[in-house]
Amino acid sequence: MPKRNLPLSKVYQLLEPGPVVLLTTSRAGHANIMTMSWHTMMEFEPPLIGCIISNRNYSFDILKKTRECVINIPTADMAEKVVACGNSSGSKINKFEKFGLTPKPARYVSAPLIDECFANFECCLFDAGWVNRYCLFVLEVTQAWKDPNVKNPQTMHHEGKGNFMIAGERIKLKSKMK
Ligand SMILES: Cc1cc2nc3c(=O)[nH]c(=O)nc-3n(C[C@H](O)[C@H](O)[C@H](O)COP(=O)(O)O)c2cc1C
Repeated sequence: MPKRNLPLSKVYQLLEPGPVVLLTTSRAGHANIMTMSWHTMMEFEPPLIGCIISNRNYSFDILKKTRECVINIPTADMAEKVVACGNSSGSKINKFEKFGLTPKPARYVSAPLIDECFANFECCLFDAGWVNRYCLFVLEVTQAWKDPNVKNPQTMHHEGKGNFMIAGERIKLKSKMK
């Protein structure tokens, strides 16, 4: 069957890497959560992660000023909360209280870990050189946590417009890959 034109506005729906994450920030004792799916690995070690965070989001200014955050990875059982955090502003509500998520102190940064997430990466702003032009924050992971009991996490991968793919079958190849 011949392929059809795909509107450029839909390109992101096929390429969005995922998994969807919850980015936490904190300023003056007020912690916030933002849902994010536009991120990419940029370096193995120390891990660098490029994140697009809209300057319309409450989290944007906080991250720019405090220069630290936590990337928390949720699983599909948290889907409703993940979407709720992505459809509300921390300028108006306390999302931890409103959506029943548990903040736990991080080791190195003021932003909290989300206890319900199976992995949490404490991050510092590594390069703000692209923030004004592309809202691109390059973050360095300075401390990473993972629940050893979670073996095959059912992470969520955004396909746009409220559609998500849930990570499923895994394969292991013999060839060496990092
Ligand atoms: C599945 C999903 C993915 C999202 N990904 C991003 C993203 O990558 N970057 C971004 O700036 N906003 C993204 N958003 C939108 C923000 O989460 C949303 O604007 C949120 O209300 C911002 O919260 P804040 O104003 O408290 O910072 C996403 C929302 C959803 C539901």
